[in-house]
Amino acid sequence: MNRSELERVARGMVAKGKGILAADESSGTIRKRFDSIRVESTEELRRSYREMLFTAPGAAGSISAVIFYDETLRQKTKDGVPFPEYLTRLGIIPGIKVDAGAKPLAAHPGETITEGLDGLRERLVEYHGLGARFAKWRAVIDIGDGIPSRYGIEANAEALARYAALCQEQQIVPIVEPEVLMDGGHSIERCEEVTNAVLEAVFDRLYMARIHLEGMVLKPNMVISGKKATNRAAPEQVAEATLRCLRRRVPAAVPGIAFLSGGQSPSEATQHLGLMNRAGPQPWALTFSYGRALQETALKAWGGAPANFGAGQKAFARRAQLNGLAAAGLYEASMESQAA
Ligand code: 13P
Repeated sequence: MNRSELERVARGMVAKGKGILAADESSGTIRKRFDSIRVESTEELRRSYREMLFTAPGAAGSISAVIFYDETLRQKTKDGVPFPEYLTRLGIIPGIKVDAGAKPLAAHPGETITEGLDGLRERLVEYHGLGARFAKWRAVIDIGDGIPSRYGIEANAEALARYAALCQEQQIVPIVEPEVLMDGGHSIERCEEVTNAVLEAVFDRLYMARIHLEGMVLKPNMVISGKKATNRAAPEQVAEATLRCLRRRVPAAVPGIAFLSGGQSPSEATQHLGLMNRAGPQPWALTFSYGRALQETALKAWGGAPANFGAGQKAFARRAQLNGLAAAGLYEASMESQAA
């Protein structure tokens, strides 16, 4: 393992004022996104949609890295340039989702375990050859009556640690993503309690697995009320609780934390990140690794019509720019209504 090279890539992924585009929707997930705009999910439309994002003029100023799905890593621009090569030329680091999804955890109703460790070493070798310099693995923790269980948390933390060790062995920076879902009606306090327990278990297992912390990126949820909660916490409370939780659980050796958006609206996700970066210096860089919150407006502006390619690019570049400003601590809510 070349530690300094891992560190260099990890720092590049969380470079000041930039963040990560999560464009690694699996075939099933991208179909759901396309369904929402009544567009059929064909391979060519998926390619063309991703090309719209990757080639958006101006976006590279705010995007440090892109997470691909297996299919996308192998696709090309209409001019025949492989996507990873196209982005590398722009100074954007290509990465790959390597987990095989969250499956029901036996004997634990309502809980899941993320699969994909079998054959992972060989897949990482291939992905490195295709240009990927980092990877992503998402563990999913749901909050509900009696869940998560201790075992559900530990099993997912263990899988994350095994994945991360294999990545570093193969000279790939692991994004470690333990996502506590915001789907339920739970309070922000309950989210903080669970996120604390999850991060504690994750860093315990990462330590046991001998992970080089300087050569990884953490991708957590924010500490936030459940979507169906009747009394949702204000943005200032989200920023405060998230920072408190992270400062207690994430070693300062980790170079950066890149949040998932998890179902927050685009402006909510930007605002929360902006508030945290205004709260003063932290031990790690704090940025975004958003999927939905970065793509939602672009997806709608595009609507599957070639004529709207430019409009989709404009919407994406603007959202990326606002998030870049939030990552640099320069975002203000009034910017939402201003033109670029
Ligand atoms: P969202 O920002 O849409 O939650 O997606 C980020 C991601 O990569 C989830 O694994």
